[in-house]
Amino acid sequence: MAMVCLSDFEAYAKKYLPKIAWDFFAAGADDCSTRDENILAYKRIRFRPRMLRDVSVMDIRTKLLGTEISFPVGIAPTGFHQLAWPDGEKSTARAAKAMNTCYIASTYSTCTLEDISAAAPGGLRWFQLYIHRNRAVSQQLVQRAEALGFQGLVLTADLPYTGKRRDDVRNGFRLPPHMTLKNLEGAFEVCKMSPLDPSVTWNDIYWLRSLTHLPIVIKGILTKEDAELAVRHGVQGIIVSNHGGRQLDGGPATIDALVEVVEAVQGRVEVYLDGGIRKGSDVLKALALGAKCVFIGRPALWGLAYKGEEGLQDVLRILQDEFRLSMALAGCASVSEIGQHLVQFSKL
Ligand code: FNR
Repeated sequence: MAMVCLSDFEAYAKKYLPKIAWDFFAAGADDCSTRDENILAYKRIRFRPRMLRDVSVMDIRTKLLGTEISFPVGIAPTGFHQLAWPDGEKSTARAAKAMNTCYIASTYSTCTLEDISAAAPGGLRWFQLYIHRNRAVSQQLVQRAEALGFQGLVLTADLPYTGKRRDDVRNGFRLPPHMTLKNLEGAFEVCKMSPLDPSVTWNDIYWLRSLTHLPIVIKGILTKEDAELAVRHGVQGIIVSNHGGRQLDGGPATIDALVEVVEAVQGRVEVYLDGGIRKGSDVLKALALGAKCVFIGRPALWGLAYKGEEGLQDVLRILQDEFRLSMALAGCASVSEIGQHLVQFSKL
């Protein structure tokens, strides 16, 4: 099967993954309107391409909090990679390193942080945190990640409770017995209910700050009010995200929310985006509207489901090639030339 674009990987994953795993990866909350809107919204944005601008030499590199990556696409945190491929997050780490980009490892990884680090020494990795009701568990995780050389801490802010994903409820989704949340082993027993702490507030950023020297990036911001609070609480980065439409259904597409967040932040911290990135031209639109970098969630899982580390590299390479081509066709030879002038909102 020739893999030409990301939907080829999606079709493969849908065909070959066990239904319960596919449904878990694909799920959005309620009737999936926000999940689907994340993708549809890109179609309402059209380019204003410029011509005759010498695009013979292209530079698609960028920097994430000072560290260079080969192109502005990283891997968003998603749980349970062993559902897609036996080596799980170890394969993800290897692919991200091979493509010289950033991998955000989830609290809900099915490999230990130690194994993830050992799989791809020197790769750029951030650690994504869900704050546990037992704060000692989270403190230990953050400090382990820092000691292992993870270079950023991503606090996910949009999951005080898990959204209602109908197929998971219907399927009675749970991890198969041989897979565990390796970084939380033992930590679940202390909680009879969900182990995640729904009482988290902005003040907890100060608590995190007291635990670690790592830059803190907050994930799940969708409004200018919260963007302002994030900056005031001293984070270094914001990921505009609606959790791939898996949490509150009815919220905006992330590409639409990006505009007000970027306007509020005024360059004080880096702004990134995830949700609905399926083509290189989507990446270009997000950068034009002010994102420094984007992250992919589900497409990375499809790549893993296809061929593990190699499949994920294929996904990243296709996105990279498409992004380079879109840039060139829009008249940009370097990422620094991408700006709002490149796009317009159509009245679709
Ligand atoms: C997620 N996401 C997520 N986010 C997070 O902060 N921690 C996590 O453990 C997970 N787990 C997770 C599992 C699965 C199966 C999906 C699809 C998503 C959300 C993820 O980081 C990201 O916000 C979205 O996936 C981006 O949307 P796309 O790229 O999937 O459209």
